[in-house]
Amino acid sequence: DSKAYFSMELLDWYDRSKRDLPWRRYRDPYYIWVSEIMLQQTRVDTVIPYFQRFIERFPSITDLAEAPEEDVLKLWEGLGYYSRARNLQAAARQVVERHGGVVPNDKEAVSALKGVGPYTTGAILSIAYNQPQPAVDGNVMRVLSRYFLIEEDIMKAKTRSIMEELAAELIPHGRASDFNQALMELGALVCTPKSPCCLTCPVMEYCAARLEGVVDELPVKSKA
Ligand code: ADE
Repeated sequence: DSKAYFSMELLDWYDRSKRDLPWRRYRDPYYIWVSEIMLQQTRVDTVIPYFQRFIERFPSITDLAEAPEEDVLKLWEGLGYYSRARNLQAAARQVVERHGGVVPNDKEAVSALKGVGPYTTGAILSIAYNQPQPAVDGNVMRVLSRYFLIEEDIMKAKTRSIMEELAAELIPHGRASDFNQALMELGALVCTPKSPCCLTCPVMEYCAARLEGVVDELPVKSKA
């Protein structure tokens, strides 16, 4: 069916053509976490040098927890949204105090960390721990809304939960880490907001929006 096709073709495509990004060289949940926080409001190209400097200066979660806040903010300079940096350090201290310096691997504990919402929780559990949890951000909602022709407003909580349910269902057995990154990669490189590259898309054959000629109209997003 079109779900199984989507998952298999997307994963094959990712295995063939994924980018060699610095955080993809690590499985340390702390490194995955740092990268996901940086990537939330910032482009990949911008994040790369910041990520490298950050893990060099704070190679472990304890190093981050023990650093003066001004050192953390200094390294963040130019990335913007400085509350991300403050929350990250506060959360590192929580991990040291509550979990002995090990990033927890259950949903409740991860989502209780400062600055960690549903998306980041799913990203950490899936990418670092390979748990079959959805990690649904704007990129992923764009891909799913197009392929599955979901015409609901993505600003609605209900739409988000529909997407999360669908994204969880699509994860191939044992491949949560690669599959979730493949979804993000497709949204970043192929299924872009403007002028998507449908001709190079690994799942174009059954993309409902393409078949209906409405790719440019999705996702539906209300203002404010
Ligand atoms: N955007 C958010 N998370 C990402 C990741 N792990 N790789 C590339 N782009 C991303």
